[in-house]
Amino acid sequence: MKEQARAVFVVLEGADGSGKSTQIERLVARLEAAGRGVVATREPHDCPAGRKIRAMARSGELVSAEQELAWFWEQRVEHVRDVIEPALASGRDVVCDRYYFSSVAYQGARGLDPRRILADSEAAFPKPDLALWLDLPVEAALARARARSGPGEPAFEESGRQLGVVEIYNSLVPEHLTRIDASGDETEISERVAKTLRERLGLLV
Ligand code: TYD
Repeated sequence: MKEQARAVFVVLEGADGSGKSTQIERLVARLEAAGRGVVATREPHDCPAGRKIRAMARSGELVSAEQELAWFWEQRVEHVRDVIEPALASGRDVVCDRYYFSSVAYQGARGLDPRRILADSEAAFPKPDLALWLDLPVEAALARARARSGPGEPAFEESGRQLGVVEIYNSLVPEHLTRIDASGDETEISERVAKTLRERLGLLV
């Protein structure tokens, strides 16, 4: 039997409406077509803290940035322990929709210190092999998000904050995030993602 090359941990990040979900589906399909075992997962993870976050987003209630960060941190501890590490240990790739870079960008955009969140996260959580940022101009991303979900989740969809989020993501390139141009059609973007995995991780996708 052909042995799978070392399992990789890949993260996709992006502002709301950046086309992340579609690109994750396509990336998972490509990895599987290349014969790799893949676990696709996302944050907020389904656990008590993750459910508190989702309930908060649905209600439109805004808790403090510190509280938000604490809940995202709590769900990440469980997510890493229960999903990410076991998958990698069993030799499967992990493709993760959002990770600690989202806390850096979103809670940073609410006024917390992005560098501190990043440093604390790097000390606490495994570093992905590759973290991609789907970069799309804020107006285009908001239009996509609105078209997709209507007026839902008001706590997360206000454009001023989105600008702050994008600015922080941008500040993490190239050291922590690899930028992917997320404009154009889905197939084109998916080719850019695959090319980056070939170049950066040597994967045959
Ligand atoms: P979700 O509906 O999953 O959005 P998306 O499809 O855009 O990923 O909601 C997740 C929201 O939570 C999203 O607006 C980003 C935010 N978020 C944070 O603020 N901090 C974090 O650490 C994470 C993981 C997500």
